[in-house]
Amino acid sequence: MKYATRILHSGCEVDPDVGALSTPVYQASTFQQHDVDNLGKYQYSRSGNPTREALENTLAALENGTHAYAFSSGMAAISSTLAILKQGDHVIATADIYGGSYRILSSFFSKFGITTTFVDMTRLENIEQALRPETRLLFLESPSNPLLRITDLTGAVEIARRHNLITVIDNTFMSPYFQRPLDLGIDIAVHSATKFLGGHSDVIGGAVITKSDELASQIYFVQNGFGAILGPQDCWLVLRGIKTLKARMESQQQSAMIIAKWLKKQPWVVDVYYPGLPDHPGHEIIRSQATGFGAVLSFRTDTVERAKRIMKNVRIWSVAVSLGGVESILSYPVMMSHASIPPEERRKLGITDELIRLSVGLEDAGDLIEDLEAKP
Ligand SMILES: Cc1ncc(COP(=O)(O)O)c(C=O)c1O
Repeated sequence: MKYATRILHSGCEVDPDVGALSTPVYQASTFQQHDVDNLGKYQYSRSGNPTREALENTLAALENGTHAYAFSSGMAAISSTLAILKQGDHVIATADIYGGSYRILSSFFSKFGITTTFVDMTRLENIEQALRPETRLLFLESPSNPLLRITDLTGAVEIARRHNLITVIDNTFMSPYFQRPLDLGIDIAVHSATKFLGGHSDVIGGAVITKSDELASQIYFVQNGFGAILGPQDCWLVLRGIKTLKARMESQQQSAMIIAKWLKKQPWVVDVYYPGLPDHPGHEIIRSQATGFGAVLSFRTDTVERAKRIMKNVRIWSVAVSLGGVESILSYPVMMSHASIPPEERRKLGITDELIRLSVGLEDAGDLIEDLEAKP
């Protein structure tokens, strides 16, 4: 079965009783047990719920994994994954990751003696240099956020295997439609399902997918123990979003490429960061490990005033936090997604006041360009 078909026909089969093509929402907290000596498959919705299971089976199928877990947010998915670590463990993470991931690693897990070194993963030797005897996990984000830097995932996996590290990637920007890291040897893929998986800016959710039985049982232990599960109604929304994943990703990527090329030609744009552009430093690597480039890009204006003017004047783009929805979103990383990174760290990473991040939606690309163009 080809991937596009699998998106629609894996994990959430037609209801055998009534034939509904849409998975029912089992809005139940608990399930009646008919035989206390043989408890049923579902007992209590924190531990398992049929609608969540349909979503989890779908997510596992899309990432070519064997186990998936749906969480109440992307951060719940990421935190619950990191919670498999123990006191004294060391993490090596991509330097320009999502600000919330930076914050949870640097200000929360550190309280439990789990330390993190953030490195520029475009150079694999930085990973080797950061290794310590207690290093246990590599936390990757590629493309990274918000500068779309690309890590050679196969190379990172090779280092991790040599040093017995667990590899985790935040695959939110690409979605499994464009990038399937488990096929490249990564152990765990995490997602903010709020973004491309849900796709409609109407649900907050997260996902963890693996094909290791051992890691799966550790993650399930945290999911059931911490209990940051995704509710049935929200599972249904993500399932519905996934049905159009192919159409959305293809169309949004197409417009992102048009907009990136247009931005490149503007005299007031200093830099454009989109891995689909042939002169992007990670272009060849992403081509070798993914089937597309996604629909998120960033650009740097010549002045802060111009960046602010664009954000004040756009009419079609929403100025908002988040990405991956059908509506195009323009966001300001220094004040939004990366506000939790200290200003001096941000500057070192290149996340400056002139940087704008775009998440391209389903509107007409020409209209989106006109909306950006009219203002400078
Ligand atoms: C790449 C990435 N990972 C994780 C998250 C966190 O996801 P959520 O907001 O669903 O908790 C985000 C949110 O913006 C994100 O962009």
